[in-house]
Amino acid sequence: MATTETPVQANPLEAGLMLRRAPDPCALVIFGASGDLTHKKLMPAIYALAMRHLLPPRFAIVGVARTEADDDSFREDMKQAVQKYGRDEFRQDIWEELASGMHYIAMDFADAGGENELAQLVTRLDEERQLNGNRVYYLAVPPGAFPTIVEALGKQRTTTGWTRLIVEKPFGHDLESARELNNLLWQHFSENEIFRIDHYLGKETVQNMLALRFANGIFEPIWNRQFIDHVQITVAESIGIEGRAGYYERAGAIRDIFQNHLLQMLALTAMEPPIDFHADSVHNEKVKVLKALHTPGPKSVVRGQYGRGYVEGEEVPAYREEQGVAPDSMTETYVAAKLFVDNWRWADTPFYVRMGKRLARRETTIAIQFKRAPHPPFEETAAEGLRPNVLLVHVQPDEGVSLAIGAKVPGQGLTIRTVHMDFLYGGAFRTEMPEAYERLILDTMLGDGTLFTRSDEVEEQWLLVDAIVAAWQRDRPSFPNYAAGTWGPPSADDLLHRDGRSWRRH
Ligand code: BG6
Repeated sequence: MATTETPVQANPLEAGLMLRRAPDPCALVIFGASGDLTHKKLMPAIYALAMRHLLPPRFAIVGVARTEADDDSFREDMKQAVQKYGRDEFRQDIWEELASGMHYIAMDFADAGGENELAQLVTRLDEERQLNGNRVYYLAVPPGAFPTIVEALGKQRTTTGWTRLIVEKPFGHDLESARELNNLLWQHFSENEIFRIDHYLGKETVQNMLALRFANGIFEPIWNRQFIDHVQITVAESIGIEGRAGYYERAGAIRDIFQNHLLQMLALTAMEPPIDFHADSVHNEKVKVLKALHTPGPKSVVRGQYGRGYVEGEEVPAYREEQGVAPDSMTETYVAAKLFVDNWRWADTPFYVRMGKRLARRETTIAIQFKRAPHPPFEETAAEGLRPNVLLVHVQPDEGVSLAIGAKVPGQGLTIRTVHMDFLYGGAFRTEMPEAYERLILDTMLGDGTLFTRSDEVEEQWLLVDAIVAAWQRDRPSFPNYAAGTWGPPSADDLLHRDGRSWRRH
């Protein structure tokens, strides 16, 4: 990435600049500072905030990890991460200011004493930089390390300032472990100090579902079972497991995507209008949807695992051939399901959801398919090319919203065809989309938990997943059952064909 000293023109449309207040001074302590997440997401996000002058006026970062390193090598490592993964041009002056408040502690939390060194460093930074005792702790470590860290942090509570804890996913691996984790956190932190990450909630387009529904008078009256035939939510990835076999073998698509990102998108799509956008008002409405989700029967859930195939022209190995994956692994890399939200608004309206690795293309969409017009007054042949109206939210890539409508084909006679009315973020706002982590880190510093998940949401999500996984113990599908680079197993198509419907065409 090129280095430039040209001043960056702050774009007033970038959400951060519309902040009503700046975050308080604080120290951000990242556990897992040598990990992938810190390199690829957290540090580039912090740098992007620095570029836009959105960080607190007085700020410090402490990286904590087991890897031996000192302040200088940590700064160099982080600089390279920002240059490689950041979305902005690299500016030496911005970087130097950020790096001057950056420190590192090599520590294994299993060893006694390490926490004292951390406490001393943070206290020193607090005095030097006048951070008013405010701290954000970011747990970007595997869940096995949570208990020791959380207990140590619990003992370090300051008497001045605020403390907030960001907890990365996975939040437990089933309902029981999630409850245990919640109980552990509550011993030392109150619920409004805990920020459970679901990074999909930080995505602009996911938040736009709320704007679309609640800032426009035209959608809400038809946003229900009377007008909507069904909803389709797709989280398709073309990548495989990216060297994360250790994690993915235990998680599978159901814990990796369905339990969190997918169910959160469904909740935002189906929830009732909140009375305001305060965190609890939004959580209250989302949790009602999650509670209303009916456990799908075995015929309503399809799982798959990819075999060899071609993705974007390149041959890729089967899941079972990936490094670290058992040759007879039964871990699913694909899930499709038909879900029902049992309430007045949605009774009998299917929510078809699907997610998978090594699918044909990266694409996350929420498609609201409306019922057909009750009586088309045209000749049958005139409307052959007409499909029902669909409101399609493109979460990524090509972020935007499009509405499929019927229109007359120009010329003599009356022929109707489906056309699309499109809104594209890039065109409408002429600004680059901020990364989800920028928003989430900033919101934590501001103490706004709206875009995080509350304990009861997480527990409801696990309740559903546990029921699905329990039913899976009863049979053993023949894996692999889809080739990499396709749209998943044929049985996923049957799931909709049985209802006289089909997955949206790509
Ligand atoms: C993560 C999953 O939560 O989300 C990954 O663990 C997945 O497996 C990723 O690839 C997808 O995120 P995004 O932002 O690239 O859609």
